[in-house]
Amino acid sequence: MTSPNPKDAVTSPTVHFSRGIPPLEAIPSADIAELTGSVLSAEPDRVFQYAPIGRHTGDRELRDQLGAFHSVDPDRIFVTNGSLQALDLLAAHLLKDAPRKKVLAEAPTYDRAVQIFERHGAQVSGIPLRGDGLDLDVLRERLRTEVPAFVYLIPDFQNPGGVTTSEEKRRELVRLSAEFGFTILEDIPYRELRFAGTAPTLLGELAESVEGARVLTIGSLSKILSPGLRVGYVIGPPGTPGALAALAESTYLSPAPLLQVVAARAFASGLVRRNIDEVRKLLRPRHDTAVEAVRKALGEAALCVPEGGYYISVHLPVRTTEEKFLAAAAAEGVALTRGSAFYPADSAPPSGTVFLRLPFQALSDEEFAEGVTRLAAVAQRAE
Ligand SMILES: Cc1ncc(COP(=O)(O)O)c(C=O)c1O
Repeated sequence: MTSPNPKDAVTSPTVHFSRGIPPLEAIPSADIAELTGSVLSAEPDRVFQYAPIGRHTGDRELRDQLGAFHSVDPDRIFVTNGSLQALDLLAAHLLKDAPRKKVLAEAPTYDRAVQIFERHGAQVSGIPLRGDGLDLDVLRERLRTEVPAFVYLIPDFQNPGGVTTSEEKRRELVRLSAEFGFTILEDIPYRELRFAGTAPTLLGELAESVEGARVLTIGSLSKILSPGLRVGYVIGPPGTPGALAALAESTYLSPAPLLQVVAARAFASGLVRRNIDEVRKLLRPRHDTAVEAVRKALGEAALCVPEGGYYISVHLPVRTTEEKFLAAAAAEGVALTRGSAFYPADSAPPSGTVFLRLPFQALSDEEFAEGVTRLAAVAQRAE
């Protein structure tokens, strides 16, 4: 690869394809502030006191609202500080006495989840992610030699791939969970942000009619209301919320009561539903532009055409190393997250390609198109 010539360095602003955070205009800050004000004046005793202890699974009002939102019994819900904490507590719970520490995940997958599982002693192994979900042939083969403690999936508008697991694959995954006796964690922070098509069934819902299947669903308000509230939750079979509560109580007691009550009122007042509609309206055109711009600049390299969420991703053929590609992209004014970091340690992007996650949620049409055009130029030059 030729080193970038400093004379060619772009002077126009860097395009940041790096973070998957909500754009500020997707967070209804004024409405949340107003709700918070009314909670503070109406319920100071409730929100400034400790939450009750003794297997406390979260604010009752919030669990009722979440139960209604998902049409599940609120007693199956456990509230956490963001869904990352749900991943941490579940890893502790599921791996503590597990005879096997093997965890299977999509390759690529959400890198922070892998780090969390590894901190709890897991050996995380990657199963290739196709345009419609996990490669089930590879999964079945792995299951024949070793049954994991759990399989971690992001079945809707996956981070980083943008992929949605098909209905057919969901049914088969749930069936395999029952046949081999492993738990599935489905992490669904982007599920409500659908711009096209119809939503496949939640794996957790499918599991209800398959004897022996075990699915834990992990939700979050970060992408549909506000990440600053740090409200996440687990929907599990009876017993799971209590087990997680015991872990929580021995470390931090409970999530902040104030933030839970504010979240509950955001559901009760209709703000969450309204905001989901607003975010869909805001992101749909960005999504459409991104899909088109990728097709135009990078051809058929996309893993899938996402129907929602934040991400489109590509396996871009290159004749250089990832490191050199990233350096050349940076010199060209494109900031990227290292794609190989999304792959569990025993997996990697297909050889001869770099994996690029291209979040579109926070970029204008022009910025996104400019970013992928620059990437195409870098790929063409890179040797
Ligand atoms: C798949 C996935 N899980 C979990 C999280 C973390 O969400 P939270 O803010 O609820 O901790 C993210 C954030 O980007 C994510 O993409």
